Amino acid sequence: MTGLPAYRRAELPVGERLADLLGRMTLEEKIDQLHQCGVSDTNPNNTGTRGDSFRPTYGSFIVGGAPDILGVRNAFQRRVLTESRLGIPALFAADVIHGYRTITPIPLAQACTWNPELVRQGCALSAAEAKAHGIDWTFAPMVDHCVDPRWGRIAETFGESPHAASVFAAASVRGYQGERLDGRSSIAACLKHYVGYGASEGGRDYVHTEISPQNLWEMHLPPFEAGIRAGARTVMSGFNDLNGVPTSAHPYLLTEVLRRRWGLTGPVVSDWGAVEQLVNQGFAAHGAEAAAKALAAGVDIDMSSGLYREHLATHVAAGRIPLAAVDEAVRRVLRLKFELGLFERPYTEPNAFTSAPPDPVHFPLLDELAARAIVLLKNNGALPLAGRAGTIALLGPLADSGAALLGCWAQQGRAAETPSLAAALRERLPADATLLVEPGCSVEDTTAADLALATAAARGSDLVILCVGEETWMSGENASRTTLRLAGRQEELIEAVLATGKPVVLVIVAGRPLDIHVFEGRLAAVVCAWPGGSRAAAALADTLLGRRNPSGRLAVTWPRRTGQIPLYHNMRPRARPGDQGDYRDFPTTPLYEFGHGLGYTTFGYGPLRLDRNKVKEDGTLTAEVTVTNTGAREGVETVFWFIRDPAASVTRPLRELKHFEQAALAPGASHVFRFEIDPQRDLSFPDADGRRILEPGEIILTAGGRSATFRVVR
Ligand code: NOJ
Repeated sequence: MTGLPAYRRAELPVGERLADLLGRMTLEEKIDQLHQCGVSDTNPNNTGTRGDSFRPTYGSFIVGGAPDILGVRNAFQRRVLTESRLGIPALFAADVIHGYRTITPIPLAQACTWNPELVRQGCALSAAEAKAHGIDWTFAPMVDHCVDPRWGRIAETFGESPHAASVFAAASVRGYQGERLDGRSSIAACLKHYVGYGASEGGRDYVHTEISPQNLWEMHLPPFEAGIRAGARTVMSGFNDLNGVPTSAHPYLLTEVLRRRWGLTGPVVSDWGAVEQLVNQGFAAHGAEAAAKALAAGVDIDMSSGLYREHLATHVAAGRIPLAAVDEAVRRVLRLKFELGLFERPYTEPNAFTSAPPDPVHFPLLDELAARAIVLLKNNGALPLAGRAGTIALLGPLADSGAALLGCWAQQGRAAETPSLAAALRERLPADATLLVEPGCSVEDTTAADLALATAAARGSDLVILCVGEETWMSGENASRTTLRLAGRQEELIEAVLATGKPVVLVIVAGRPLDIHVFEGRLAAVVCAWPGGSRAAAALADTLLGRRNPSGRLAVTWPRRTGQIPLYHNMRPRARPGDQGDYRDFPTTPLYEFGHGLGYTTFGYGPLRLDRNKVKEDGTLTAEVTVTNTGAREGVETVFWFIRDPAASVTRPLRELKHFEQAALAPGASHVFRFEIDPQRDLSFPDADGRRILEPGEIILTAGGRSATFRVVR
């Protein structure tokens, strides 16, 4: 035993192993640990220089869409261990964003469940699958704040509330990382993209972002802090230039905030090519300068650009970068490897999850996640369908598509293993019901269309379900759009079907809210199904048929029109009351508000009660509201608690979500929803440098349309 070097001895404290290993490494070996390159990475947006050549001393590899990731991993790891002097195991990373082989709903949809525990379980399942395929580290959760649905990556966010994003960030981290990072089903989480990338100007990708320090602290930073407090080991720096300083070279954010204030211990990895992109952004004259600026600011791992490998040794030799800075970055990478147990278990053994298609054992969880993410936006009584329609026309380009239900970043999710809505409905409809299925048109194509077949089917039916929206590639990275209108001839199809006079239930499968204002008033019902993942169709069919009662609530504001962007619930109050400042050509209000969502039962809210009407800064106050299921079937209700601080030294939003709680209620049953207010946590706000301010004065609390007022006192 004692013959082994200290770094190989699992029984020693990590600090000791680390010091021993670092002491043995040459500068070149150290710098190689800070390099990450793609192997079998198939992400088409990972462009530019690809430092994909292999060296056994590299610190980490991205394994993308290759069919046999496990094989690739173990083969690479074998070479790493046998061909390198010290045998430091490599880390294998992948974008496990919402599932691996079994796909969960897109993150935006997950947020609409308002159920952090389900989200945690979904991430734990993804981690178990990914781990079984040789992945140690996921580039998730994405916790960017975005109020512009033109940006394709809104699909990857947890919606527009910083509080909600913080809660879901923490839940995801716990799901991926489990109880212990070296657990058999744990993978390291990575909070991304630090920070402000979601404010991409005009919804375009990879562009400049202009965010005031106040807004940064209020809206963008909280989910990162929450994720780190939940134990996230790693962070990815963004592509975006933030107010003139790119976030992959931002000392204040990467070192002062992330390390000194929040205590992140693991490495920061740049986003793909972000270090070399500092040159494109005009922040560095050449690669050498880009490498120096990124490392000095606090980026430990250079994803793909290869500039650390090329230039850091020269910088150290010339005294431009202290060796201590390189050592510190290497220490963070190695610490993560020790924590993951990679030195003890460098290879991945196949297990029950490896190569298996989605396992029915997990269907209850997936069904629950997918069903609870569905938001019933409008219903004039057409839903549920139970026992109603004799002939249903299921129309639209996504009616018979499994692929679209998987959504962006669907990793190893397979369309062939993903039932479509048509298949799920066929399975569930009674034998005497008829289902006519016609696409009518394709999603994006403006030429090939067969509207006539679709309208004929509509005419011959009692009710139409029209499934429209976006293909997988229309949201996610590099998928910006100038309009939220439906692509191709889908609107034409909707108009033609509406003209038949049949009741139309619109089902939307899309990674963002869409502009449906032209025809929304004529629809019988509108269901937002998002891309709900591997079991989306089952959940959707059950919801349409009434076997499940929808309970999803919007985590984003749904605008009427693209021109209203940005439109979000937590805006600041404007200078003039009434309709002053409203649009002159169109309503200013959203089509569907943040938190909106219908179900097949109804809920009644009692008055909002407070246990006191004054609270000291270090005291507590309890607010309660009793909610009763006043309908005829069981349902899940989510209570959203908002605060408003009507007069403060920094203006406060009209509504700030501070707490949410969910309960299932049988018909006639009541539940007391409670919000225990801790003034420091719930009523303070940050200044432009993140310091919390708690001011005495009035606070208005609202929940379910009820409100109560209290005062904070010294
Ligand atoms: C670029 C994306 O912005 C990021 O989210 C992803 O993790 C990396 N590519 C790696 O694929």
